[in-house]
Amino acid sequence: MTEIKPKTATKPAAPPKPRPVVRLREGSTVKDLSDRLKVRPRDLVDKLAVKGYTLGPNDSLGDSLAAGLAKDLNIVLEMIPVEEAFRREAESKTADLVSRPPVVTIMGHVDHGKTTLLDAIRQSRLVDKESGGITQHIGAYRVTFNKRAITFIDTPGHEAFTQLRARGAKVTDIVVLVVAAEEGIMPQTREAINHAKAAGVPLLVAINKIDKPEANPDKVKRELQKDGILVEEWGGETICVEISAKEKKNISELLEFILLLTDVLEPKANPKVPAQGVVLEARLDSKKGPLATVIIQNGTLKTGDAFLSGATFGRVRALNDESGATLKSAGPSVPVEILGYAGVPQAGDLFQVLAGLEEARAIAESRIKGPAKADPAKAAHLTLDDLFKKVEGGEVKELPIVLKADVQGSVEVLSGLLPSLSSNKVKIKVVHAATGPVNESDVLLASTTDSIILSYNVKPGPKIQELAAKENVEIRKYKIIYQLTDDIKKAIAGMLEPVFKETFLGRALVRRIFRIPKVGTIAGCYVQEGKITRNADIRVLRGSEVVHRGKIGSLKHVKENVTEVKSGYECGLGLSNFKDVQEGDLIEATVTEKVSSV
Ligand code: GTP
Ligand code: MG
Repeated sequence: MTEIKPKTATKPAAPPKPRPVVRLREGSTVKDLSDRLKVRPRDLVDKLAVKGYTLGPNDSLGDSLAAGLAKDLNIVLEMIPVEEAFRREAESKTADLVSRPPVVTIMGHVDHGKTTLLDAIRQSRLVDKESGGITQHIGAYRVTFNKRAITFIDTPGHEAFTQLRARGAKVTDIVVLVVAAEEGIMPQTREAINHAKAAGVPLLVAINKIDKPEANPDKVKRELQKDGILVEEWGGETICVEISAKEKKNISELLEFILLLTDVLEPKANPKVPAQGVVLEARLDSKKGPLATVIIQNGTLKTGDAFLSGATFGRVRALNDESGATLKSAGPSVPVEILGYAGVPQAGDLFQVLAGLEEARAIAESRIKGPAKADPAKAAHLTLDDLFKKVEGGEVKELPIVLKADVQGSVEVLSGLLPSLSSNKVKIKVVHAATGPVNESDVLLASTTDSIILSYNVKPGPKIQELAAKENVEIRKYKIIYQLTDDIKKAIAGMLEPVFKETFLGRALVRRIFRIPKVGTIAGCYVQEGKITRNADIRVLRGSEVVHRGKIGSLKHVKENVTEVKSGYECGLGLSNFKDVQEGDLIEATVTEKVSSV
């Protein structure tokens, strides 16, 4: 083909202008967008009508509709989740910020006394003890001490803590780490320390069971020092209180220290914005319907308020506190059980009061239909394969690692070795290292810290592999130290070869060839085995010889474009870049997947 050249040389085209970014709150209306774009609402309504949508200026723009419009208008439209928009607004009005009570989570190893401590605190100091006296479990409770309120999260354990964080919610201001004085630092103590560190939440250590004759608080402090926690009396920064939860000894001291630390942290909230918070627990009650415990973070929640919560919504019918009493309203740091949900939300979902029920319903519904990207827990995390690319792109400067190994010796060797493999561009940081197989807590920690899990000589169970896949966390398994360090070195240098695995999908027999003008050659096939999918890799076999390898250009079943055709059905298959397909050929479909674990 001859090219037609213009007679006069034209100037090279100017580089395309970057598209302007327009940020829009989720649930915004056509009019909101027109305001932002400084165009008439009518113009947008007309544009939408051309696309087949009959919307008025006050109708809300769904995510996908907005995205389509953005393309037409040549702008980048960034939809900000409503909760985030309100949070930004709440935090930016600094003049409205007031002090709020601290929210405390108790963590520690099994049997070190978390529940006993929570009970001891609750029994001695529950707010409003007169009202009924029967306490109910709602997932959190408040106490008053020296006339100040403290909120305790009543689901101790760092799984709950990190699960909330993995879903993007930050609730806890202070972690109380319970360590039994006779047993000292144990694996879950260490996990708790690293979870708190990763979240940037300050720790306060409660050395428990000091009533026991074999209690040895000094040994605990020495062990803490080994783990990078230096207590105040030894010149460090971490407050440490010696208590007996069972004998209720020094509980007041512990509460005093919590308040002292609160004075340093000065947690604040904006009470003037529409109420927002985080779901701690939720369930379906046979009598009361769906209900959830929410910790209010900003604003003041009242009965009658319409709200959005994760992918569900509702109107507050009643508010209950931990003693079963009814509240008229709940302000910052107050845990409340909320009745009036349309569905059951998930722990970690956010809670946001909106102007009306219809807006809440519309956003909740668009979240159900919408892409999964709304869930921060499902965001793709760092993998070793894409490390180099992200480093080069300036996105990543650190490789956080959660390390699990068979024996303490391996843990020590590898925790020592890994940081030494850092380059001047990537710093390797061991977020957590311990013996034993990868557990749920490891995966959640990796998810919140964007870590890669290295599993050395231990095997993660199928449940954990499933969770890791759900959280998009990479687990790499090794049996030889050299291979592990070699992979890390290669990943840092951008030389890691991904391991691929080919999986057979199905086979089809070519029965007839159609040559269609403008479309090309279509092979009329019959799927004999498995299935053929639109995005599969294919090879064409003639006898035992492979005559072509490539991709599928089009896949149709009875004139309809389809994404897959199963065995026993016919299909029309167009092959990209291959015209010489013949009757009697066999077409085999495979997928090649990157296997991240070695
Ligand atoms: P898990 O929920 O299983 O992780 O345990 P936990 O940390 O909640 O411990 P829990 O409060 O259930 O206490 C475990 C055991 O230690 C119980 O038998 C308690 O009675 C005992 N215990 C807790 N605190 C003390 C204490 O201060 N002194 C003594 N002597 N025993 C205590
Ligand atoms: Mg317990």
